[in-house]
Amino acid sequence: MGIPGCSMHGVAHAVSLEFILTIQAINGFKDILPEAVGRWQYIEQRARDIFERFGFQEIRMPILEKTELFVRSIGSATDVVEKEMYTFADKGITMRPEATASIMRAFIEHGLHVQQPVQRLYTIGPMFRHERPQKGRLRQFHQLNAEIIGASEPRVDAELIAMAQMLLDELGLAVSLELNSLGCPVCRPPFKEQLIVFLEQRHEALCGDCQRRTRTNPLRVLDCKKTSCRAVIKDAPSLLAALCPDCDRHFTEVRTVLSELRIPFQINRFMVRGLDYYTRTTFEFLTTDLGAQAAVGAGGRYDGLIEQLGGPPLSGIGFAMGLERLALLMDQHDHCPIPAKGMDVFVAALGTVTIAPAGQLVHALRRQGAKAAIDYSGRSLKAQLKQASRANARFTLIVGEDEWTRGEAILRDMRTQEQQPFALRGSSEEQAGRLLDMVQATATP
Ligand code: HAM
Repeated sequence: MGIPGCSMHGVAHAVSLEFILTIQAINGFKDILPEAVGRWQYIEQRARDIFERFGFQEIRMPILEKTELFVRSIGSATDVVEKEMYTFADKGITMRPEATASIMRAFIEHGLHVQQPVQRLYTIGPMFRHERPQKGRLRQFHQLNAEIIGASEPRVDAELIAMAQMLLDELGLAVSLELNSLGCPVCRPPFKEQLIVFLEQRHEALCGDCQRRTRTNPLRVLDCKKTSCRAVIKDAPSLLAALCPDCDRHFTEVRTVLSELRIPFQINRFMVRGLDYYTRTTFEFLTTDLGAQAAVGAGGRYDGLIEQLGGPPLSGIGFAMGLERLALLMDQHDHCPIPAKGMDVFVAALGTVTIAPAGQLVHALRRQGAKAAIDYSGRSLKAQLKQASRANARFTLIVGEDEWTRGEAILRDMRTQEQQPFALRGSSEEQAGRLLDMVQATATP
C-alpha cells in the first residue's frame, strides 16, 4: 500500500513486515544535484565577473531578518507580505523573501555610505516565498541581486540595466526588456486618486482580488493577468502621461542612454512590480520560454526606501535575477559551455600491501594541487578502471602487487589507452611531483 508523495522500502522482520517511509524534500524546495551544479556555478561565475567589471562588491546577509523590515520596505498590502512570507510569528522574524531590504538594512546599520558615498553591492543566495510551486517557481529560490546606492542620475539606471543585459548576453539568453516609470511621491498620489475613480466606476467588471486592491493597492490592478481585468485596464489612465516634470525628464534620459548603449527595450505602462518600494524607473527581463513564469529578472529605482528604513536620504536602484529560471532557460537552449569536470589521476591500488603507499601518494598529489582519487576496496583492475572512467579521470596509475615489489607502477592514459612505466622511488611528495610532470608532458588538451 502506498501513501501519496512517499516512497517505501520494505524491511522484512521475523514476524511482521514493516515499512520505513523515506523522507522527501518539502514541496517547492529543491535539491540541486551535482550534475546541475556545474551550470549554477557557471552562471554565478559569469555574474560575479561582470558585476566586478562594473565595480560591484559582494555583501552577504543573514537569511533571517526582523519581520518589520519586510513589512516596512516591501509594503503591508503586497502579496509577498500578505501571503507569502515564512514568518516565525512568536519570534517576530522572517526568512527573507528578497534581498534588497536586507542589503538596505545592512547598509544603514554599518553606515557604509560614510566610507564610500556611492555603494555598488551584489549578493547571491536563497530567498523564500510561499507561492504555489510551478515550473520556474519555487518556495526556496535563488537570486543574483545587484544594487547601486547613493546615485540618482538616470545614466546610472541605464548602466545598471546594461549590466543585467550584458550578463544575459554572455549567458547566451535572448530575452526582452520592458521598461516603465512609477513616478515619485509628487506625481504618484494624484495619479492613484485618478486611477481609483476609474476602477471604482468599473468595480463589477474586476476580479475579486482587484476589487479589494482598488482601495488597498490600486496600482497592482494594472498588471492583473485575468482577461476580464485586462479588458478594463487597457483604457485606464496612464501614469506615464501623469509624471511630474522631474520624473518625466529622468525617464526620457534613461531611454536615451539605453538607446545610446544599443539596448533594445519596450515601454510597458502596465508594469507596476509586486513590491511597494519602487519609484521612477522599473524594468523586467521577460521570456516566453518558461510558461507562466515570464520574468527572468526585474528591478527598479527605490529613492525613498533608505530614508523610510531610518537611513540617510539616499537614492538607490537594483535588480534581481532568478537563478532557477536562468538555469532552466540555459537547459532549454542547450547553452552548456561548461567544461566536463573530472579527476587528473585515479590511483588503482591492487592488493592489500599497495593501499597504504598509494594512499600517501594520492594525498601528496592533492597537496600539489591535482585532483586525485583512489579506491580502498582492493577490487579487481577491471572494476577500478571502470570506476576511473566514470570519474572521468585523465590518467590512471596502476599499482599492482608484483610491480610494487619491483618499485614500479603503470601510468595509463585514459584517452589513448597508452601505458608507460612509472618508477615508485623516493618519498610520496617526490613521486607526486614526477607523476604530475609526466602527466603534464603527456596530456594533450
Ligand atoms: P522580484 O521581481 O520579486 O524582485 O524577483 C526578481 C526575480 O526573482 C524574478 O524576476 C524571478 O526571476 C525570481 N523569482 C522571484 N520569485 C521567484 C520564485 N518564487 N521562484 C523562482 N524565481 C523567483 C525582487 O525580488 C527585487 N528585490 C528585485 C530588486 C532588486 N529590485 C531592486 N533591487
